[in-house]
Formats: sequence, structure tokens, C-alpha cells
Amino acid sequence: MRLIVGISGGSGAIYAVGLLQILKLLGVETHLVMTRMGEDVVKYECGLDRGDLMEFVKQSYSYDDLYAPIASGTFKIDGMVVIPCSMKTLAAISTGYSDNLLSRSADVVLKEGRKLVVVPRETPLSTIHLRNMLELSKAGAVIMPATPGFYTNPQSISDIVAIMAGKVLDAFNIEHDLTDRWGEERKVGER
Ligand SMILES: Cc1cc2nc3c(=O)[nH]c(=O)nc-3n(C[C@H](O)[C@H](O)[C@H](O)COP(=O)(O)O)c2cc1C
Repeated sequence: MRLIVGISGGSGAIYAVGLLQILKLLGVETHLVMTRMGEDVVKYECGLDRGDLMEFVKQSYSYDDLYAPIASGTFKIDGMVVIPCSMKTLAAISTGYSDNLLSRSADVVLKEGRKLVVVPRETPLSTIHLRNMLELSKAGAVIMPATPGFYTNPQSISDIVAIMAGKVLDAFNIEHDLTDRWGEERKVGER
């Protein structure tokens, strides 16, 4: 399994960092692209820079490197997740405006019929945001807002990150035991 992980400048960079760590543990090969603001928010919210994330990924690319392998459909990839997905990047992907490597890679994943999962982060949502999500959904993307459920009784931010990471892994049919499934015994924040 080989995935592109795109990080844009939405809040919730910790979701991306947690997901990269988990994908590494599960042996999934990851190719990382961060927008300029994505990189800024990772630094601001998590205190981490690109170098810190390198230990979890196979390869990372500059957001303006439109010559990178992941900019082409010839590069074999199983799919892509954009986490978190800012409203600007959401707009870019939903309209096919591929002026950086993240939006171009997402565009390529869609045109090749591969799986694209976007994890939008904003609240409240305007009609423009909602329309862009609808367009992207119609184009085949999975819209997975950063809204973790609380029925597994999470006790920490790590638990909440694990819930979202588990949802992303489920979308790609990657086996994991990060959280309980409804009807099974508790794991996250056991009561
Ligand atoms: C600390 C911080 C948090 C932000 N959180 C969000 C957010 O949750 N959602 C969003 O759409 N934009 C958010 N923004 C604004 C985006 O970073 C901004 O619109 C940027 O242009 C997005 O660019 P990108 O999509 O190329 O990363 C945030 C900005 C900062 C500085």
C-alpha cells in the first residue's frame, strides 16, 4: 500500500502527524506534500517542521515541485488523503485548479479513478464550502470532516486523533485496531 498524504493549512495538523505515525507503524509507504500554510500550521500547532516528519514518510516533496512523480498519473499510488483540508485547498481541488503539487496530486488521483479522502476543517461552513464539498463528493472523493465521534469515550487528544486516523484507514481498507467497532469491546478511553 502506497499513499499520498497532503497537509494543507487547516487547523488540526495533529491529525496529520498522528496519521503519518500510524501509517509508518502499519508499513504503509507514504509520500508527503504540504502546502506552504500546511507546513506553517504544523509548526504552529505541533512545533514540528518538515525534517521532523521525514522519519515517518518514504518521500516528501515541495508544494511547488510540479515535476514531482506524484504530479503524474503514471506514478503508481493507491490513493491520497488531504488532512487537514483547508477551505482554500478544498476549493482548488473541487474546481481542478492545480497550481501546486497538493492540488495537482489530488486532481491526478481523481482523474485516474483512485481513492481521494479529504478531511475538511472549518466551522461554521458557508454555502461556498458546502458547494465545494458537494462537487468533490460528486467527483468521487470521500468527504470525511474532522468531526470524531465521542461514543467510544475518548480520554485524550491522542484518543481523538486515533479515532480520525482509524476512519481514514477504514476508507482505504487498511486493517487496524486503533478503535473499537460498534458492538465490540471498548479500547479508546475505556470506561
Ligand atoms: C493557525 C491557523 C489555522 C487555520 N485554520 C484553518 C482551518 O481550520 N480551516 C481553513 O479553511 N483555513 C484555516 N486557516 C487559513 C488557511 O491556512 C488559509 O486559508 C490558507 O490560505 C490555506 O492555504 P492552503 O490551502 O494552500 O494550505 C488557518 C490559518 C492559520 C494561520
